[in-house]
Amino acid sequence: MKCTRCRARAEVHLRAHNSAFCRPCFLFFFRRQVERAIAHERMCTPEEHLLVAVSGGKDSLALWDVLAELGYRTTGLYLGLGIGAYSTASHAKVETFAATRGLPLRVVDLAREESGLAIPEVARVTRRTACAACGTMKRHYFDAAALEGGFDVLVTGHNLDDEAARLMGNVLRWQTDHLARQRPVLPPTHPRFVRKVKPLYLTGEYETAVYAFMRGIDYIVDECPNAAGATQLLYKEALNRLEAASPGTKLAFVKEFLRSAQPAFSQVEGRRPQDCTRCGMPAYGEVCSFCSLVREVQAKTARAAAGAPA
Ligand code: AMP
Ligand code: FES
Ligand code: ZN
Repeated sequence: MKCTRCRARAEVHLRAHNSAFCRPCFLFFFRRQVERAIAHERMCTPEEHLLVAVSGGKDSLALWDVLAELGYRTTGLYLGLGIGAYSTASHAKVETFAATRGLPLRVVDLAREESGLAIPEVARVTRRTACAACGTMKRHYFDAAALEGGFDVLVTGHNLDDEAARLMGNVLRWQTDHLARQRPVLPPTHPRFVRKVKPLYLTGEYETAVYAFMRGIDYIVDECPNAAGATQLLYKEALNRLEAASPGTKLAFVKEFLRSAQPAFSQVEGRRPQDCTRCGMPAYGEVCSFCSLVREVQAKTARAAAGAPA
């Protein structure tokens, strides 16, 4: 197979794009895809300071690599979630990546923060799934780090596969409030929020894996151990089957949603957050979801210590 751009021997075949690329042309294509997403959605400008949330996985490290290559001012943010060997290994990958490229990195270890709560403890005490607890905790620490560091934008590595799976979940349950907020750019709705962007929202997981491989990025291959059995993975599998039978399905699903259906949902999005009475961060009730979770953990832990059933 020949490269669609230069006719050299192709190394990668992207069925969804009906294209094949040699190594230099694939790297060019990948970077251009990110540049286009940023420009098309007005995600950020070269003057702004970006906080890039990096998990140690291929997507966020590939994204950080591209943004730095494109000349953006970036700082990485790694959250130590306290998930045993997985967290230790992913932290090491992020540290190595930042050190070898001379990029600034902030590390927030959840267990050392004021609440002192790592994900496994929150999940165990509240009997929530680890992923549910993790989502709330991660969002809070992303927002807090962006605010504290005076960043303009928070960038995450969510890719096309993540967005398609999330969309499928939201559609299957018609979660209209979630559909209203499923966008590649979320403008701040509160003075303590910064803009949140996902430059890889149209870039498939396979593409980021190829990019990471070609650029020699050493990333954590294992999924978080709590992800096994998560509904999100089931949706990803279903979408992969659809994609295999009909290449381009995921791209069309997400792109068409954003073009033709999403505006109708975001119009009805009316709620604006107030200030959390505990921590001052944005909240939709008296306290934010993070403080509400921490309060629940503290109350249940105190009850258990006093000998009462949890
Ligand atoms: P996930 O929620 O694991 O699918 O990850 C989605 C995105 O959230 C990643 O691409 C990263 O940008 C960010 N992220 C996930 N885990 C972490 C972490 N431990 N530290 C910093 N960012 C993270
Ligand atoms: Fe949050 Fe796995 S990364 S539970
Ligand atoms: Zn709060």
